[in-house]
Amino acid sequence: MGVAIVGAAVDTAGVARRARPIVGAAVGLGAVAIGLGGLTGGAGGGRAESNRPQTTGANVLMGAHLFVQFACSACHGMQGRGGVSPYVPRLKQIGKALTVAQLTSIIKHGLGESANPKRPYMPVWGPVISTSQVADLVAYIRAGLPPVRDATPVPVPRAQGAAVAGSALYVRYGCINCHGPNALGGVPNPQSPDKTIPPLSGQDFRKQFNTDAKITEVIRSGSVIGKAPIASMPHWGGIIPRRDLKALVAYLKTLK
Ligand code: HEC
Ligand code: HEC
Repeated sequence: MGVAIVGAAVDTAGVARRARPIVGAAVGLGAVAIGLGGLTGGAGGGRAESNRPQTTGANVLMGAHLFVQFACSACHGMQGRGGVSPYVPRLKQIGKALTVAQLTSIIKHGLGESANPKRPYMPVWGPVISTSQVADLVAYIRAGLPPVRDATPVPVPRAQGAAVAGSALYVRYGCINCHGPNALGGVPNPQSPDKTIPPLSGQDFRKQFNTDAKITEVIRSGSVIGKAPIASMPHWGGIIPRRDLKALVAYLKTLK
């Protein structure tokens, strides 16, 4: 039933590298036990069983995939290691410090959101994520965010033009979860004035966002349209580098 946890991880820059041993991470984590063998085995002193696949609970494995799908990793770093922005905390230790109820509440309702954000805040995910998905994310965080095979962001082709890169980045940064495939919108946001998250395509969008600068600006600044449980546009300034912003804009301009 279990799926292997692998020692190789891909960081946000897409560079494959060896995960460092997570010393002690498997100790005292309650119901979910994660073998260290699959996480170690670096130069020299790998333990005998280090190549044997380790198993863990299905909810932790799903949580690892959701952590990438919802681009938690884009802000908090792969496996919650941090290092992306000084304003986004690493999550490695948090599983021990916060209760299930606290983590659930933070993921559903966000944290630090303000009407005029100058820096990234923890988005409100409630409307776009199921109770079961939140539970899996919480299980993953409480398990110490181990690397899990294939729970890695989609690769970004960099030599095939900005729009191609942008189409991958649209998935990699999780825009697709809120704005839908092909940026068609329609994802329910029941408490918001429009009741749905807006499309990034179509005539109305093009009319209002008729320059690259306007599109770039709203991605960088975000746009808070109300308190939780309303989902707002996250602030991506300091998270998404300039060339990725350009690529996202180039991609959006190819859409209907
Ligand atoms: C746009 C960037 C961004 C994304 C995407 C994001 N976060 Fe956060 N997150 C933050 C910031 C910023 C904070 C700190 C908020 C504060 O303390 O005011 C935070 C805080 C948290 C905390 C509390 C940590 C602590 O030390 O108190 C948890 C847990 C968390 N995020 C989990 C997640 C999960 C799970 C996801 C994916 C579903 C996610 N985050 C996606 C930016 C982000
Ligand atoms: C948590 C859900 C969420 C995520 C993730 C998200 N957005 Fe948004 N976005 C929104 C909401 C809600 C609005 C509407 C804000 C408003 O009306 O002021 C919005 C607005 C926008 C707008 C302005 C369109 C308009 O009509 O207001 C652009 C452009 C945009 N988002 C691009 C992106 C891109 C690019 C990404 C990925 C990097 C992204 N968004 C990720 C929720 C999200």
